[in-house]
Amino acid sequence: MSEATGSTRIFRDDLLDGMVCLVSGAGSGFGREIACELARLGAIVIGCGRRLEPLQETLAIIESDSGRAEVFGVDIRDEAAVEVLIGGIVERHGRLDLLVNNAGGQFLSPAEAISAKGFRTVIELNVMGTWLMTSAAARLAFIPQQRGKVISVTLSPHNGMPGMVHSGAARAAVENMMKTLSIEWARFNIKLTALAAGQFATQTLLTKYPEVVVKNLQGTVPAGRLGSEAEMAWMVAYLASPAGEFHSGSVITIDGARDNWFGTWPPKDIADESGTPVAEQRRPKPD
Ligand SMILES: NC(=O)c1ccc[n+]([C@@H]2O[C@H](COP(=O)([O-])OP(=O)(O)OC[C@H]3O[C@@H](n4cnc5c(N)ncnc54)[C@H](OP(=O)(O)O)[C@@H]3O)[C@@H](O)[C@H]2O)c1
Repeated sequence: MSEATGSTRIFRDDLLDGMVCLVSGAGSGFGREIACELARLGAIVIGCGRRLEPLQETLAIIESDSGRAEVFGVDIRDEAAVEVLIGGIVERHGRLDLLVNNAGGQFLSPAEAISAKGFRTVIELNVMGTWLMTSAAARLAFIPQQRGKVISVTLSPHNGMPGMVHSGAARAAVENMMKTLSIEWARFNIKLTALAAGQFATQTLLTKYPEVVVKNLQGTVPAGRLGSEAEMAWMVAYLASPAGEFHSGSVITIDGARDNWFGTWPPKDIADESGTPVAEQRRPKPD
């Protein structure tokens, strides 16, 4: 599928008919692709982000595909603005069905070079921003209507995030937030899932990180390639649909097996000349 054209054909066209879905960071990358896919499947999509211009491009793509969307320049760290955004959605549409916490980010740096300010910024965006959106969606929409879904984008690998200690810590916090709320808010029929993304070929990943990182990244994925934005959008659409009704409290890792192994299999040093992993060989015991 071409990215962000809404032309995927994995799911039935009316799968999400009339659902009201809020997607943060909808002006680029995953967020745009998710917004387009949800709209193509019949959802009314509300996209937010700090910059209006890229959001308007997302809106234009959706409208050119006969979808329905609205976009708002809202910083997810701004508590009052978040309350107004979600209050307004409930006022205009009478409900909210799904919140996708996609907005987020970090910067690559050796841990020892990260200042308190830098660390705080990443926590503020990824943890506090996600909390403000989730809390407002629950209080203003999901609890009164006694149903709702939250999908929060986090990071894989889970065993450590060298070069991004702030974001590794922040996303672990978000995953625990989703798990905890899935228990507390089960009584309101609210389902929360974390979607731990590995390495995906988004514009940000391809252009923001040093060339040497980008070039070697797919060699760290056992599947031997980066993920596509569409693959994230399909997973969100699946969770949003009735097929996702029993998903709550889980972390779904979508990473071509990156969480389980750093590198392709077999590594160069333990393969024969043809690239086949070496097998056990019985050798005579040394005397
Ligand atoms: N690409 C990957 O391989 C990968 C892997 C794992 C996880 N992720 C995560 O997936 C999410 C999307 O990534 P992406 O690759 O699509 O990157 P991206 O294009 O940079 O998307 C981030 C989006 O978040 C918005 N945003 C940032 N700060 C915000 C704020 N304070 N308030 C509201 N919106 C804000 C940005 O728009 P504005 O700048 O206009 O606000 C932007 O649209 C991020 O959380 C990222 O860390 C990406």
